[in-house]
Amino acid sequence: MGDKHARLFVDGADEAIELPILSPSLGSDVIDIAQLTKQGIFTYDPGFVSTASCDSNITYIDGDNGVLLHRGYPIEQLAERSDFLELCYLLLEGALPSAAQKSEFERTIAAERNLPAGIANMVSSFSTGAHPMGIITALTGALAAEYHNGLDITVAEDRDITARRLIAKMPTLAALTYRHGQGKPPLPPREDLGYAENFLYTTFADDENYEINPVIARAMDRIFMLHADHEQNASTSTVRLAGSTGTNPYSAIAAGVAALWGPSHGGANEAVLSMLADIGSPDNIDTYVAKAKDRNDPFRIMGFGHRVYKNYDPRATVMQETCHEVLAELGVEADETLQMAQRLEKIALEDEFFIERRLYPNVDFYSGITLKAIGIPTEMFTVIFVTGRTPGWIAHWKEMVSEAYKIGRPRQLYLGETSRDYVPLEQRS
Ligand code: SDX
Repeated sequence: MGDKHARLFVDGADEAIELPILSPSLGSDVIDIAQLTKQGIFTYDPGFVSTASCDSNITYIDGDNGVLLHRGYPIEQLAERSDFLELCYLLLEGALPSAAQKSEFERTIAAERNLPAGIANMVSSFSTGAHPMGIITALTGALAAEYHNGLDITVAEDRDITARRLIAKMPTLAALTYRHGQGKPPLPPREDLGYAENFLYTTFADDENYEINPVIARAMDRIFMLHADHEQNASTSTVRLAGSTGTNPYSAIAAGVAALWGPSHGGANEAVLSMLADIGSPDNIDTYVAKAKDRNDPFRIMGFGHRVYKNYDPRATVMQETCHEVLAELGVEADETLQMAQRLEKIALEDEFFIERRLYPNVDFYSGITLKAIGIPTEMFTVIFVTGRTPGWIAHWKEMVSEAYKIGRPRQLYLGETSRDYVPLEQRS
């Protein structure tokens, strides 16, 4: 990784601290600060804005140029020419599968779609109004209970079966969660259907006349692909930190599900639709843009901005195309929500406030409109994100635990009380 160094001069120290600089195959150099604790000093970086938490070979993002590579392949090419299960294989194995490897992977995933009986029954313990993200967080954790005894994460085959089970069962959990909310009985997964087709079937089929629209199935598969992985985002970092304790991998993924729920992260797609509903009419857009620019107003334009992308999110471009395809197929091109979103996007992209802060639509801006058109209720949007992100989470977990790793244990800048003696109750005012 080269022999470049940074030298840190600390007031009062006799000499500079020499810190190795590690160079990547793509992107920014990093300064290895591990030795600083021996010098009695920590770095301070709330929100990890300038911190690389690990090294990884899986996904690369160039935020300034709107680039997203999965194992070196641009997301635009994958979205156009690949499919979700092939992308899952790529994320896990680091290479595109041969025809034989691809069909074997598809077969093993299809064979793993069913749930342990206890988990299928568990969903009925929730009220029909329970939020789907809370349900799928619980059900994912319940997989940890079912798949714990005998699981040895130091064994490669155990790690691989865990990855396949999670990728296979997450859409089953998602469909189960949706149908519970609709007061409908669960539908058993079918091994004869593709990944997205089976998800649509187990979600929406109410009788044998249900037909899978191939345009919608392709759009669903692409939505899963666009959400599959995204470097060290908040939920993936949560999975890595939880996994670094050696915990059951299903519980580490459940921690990632919980983290994704937040409106600043995966919950933004649901928040976009709520925001558009609050705006209510294109006539109100200017008022809401003004609110977004007012630093005393907590309102943010959901689906806009990103910690890394300071250019267009390449996923948003593909998502917007997919949105148009779906609305055209369903004959709802005149969808007022879409028209409002497009007008909001146009106004924001021309406004100096957003331009100087390099705020662009992210993947969540158009995904919600697409999912709503497909018939997915708003509160299920982040559950779809969970299903798409599962291969990314488990690929990062597998990458970490397949090599030597340390438990994650950040330090802090302590600003609390200095040491003081206990005051007996009778002496307190
Ligand atoms: C995802 O990390 C990932 O990769 C995440 C993700 C993934 O695939 O895993 O890509 C998925 O989470 C996408 C992001 C979804 N979230 C939203 O759409 C919520 C709305 N966006 C914002 O909350 C915000 O942009 C964040 C949280 C996404 C990023 O926040 P940052 O990097 O901490 O940026 P910031 O809060 O420091 O903002 C910088 C400036 C501020 O203004 P000033 O203080 O400089 O005056 O930009 C402003 C912010 O007020 N700003 C916005 C804004 N986002 C940032 N102003 C209005 N609307 C917005 N959406």
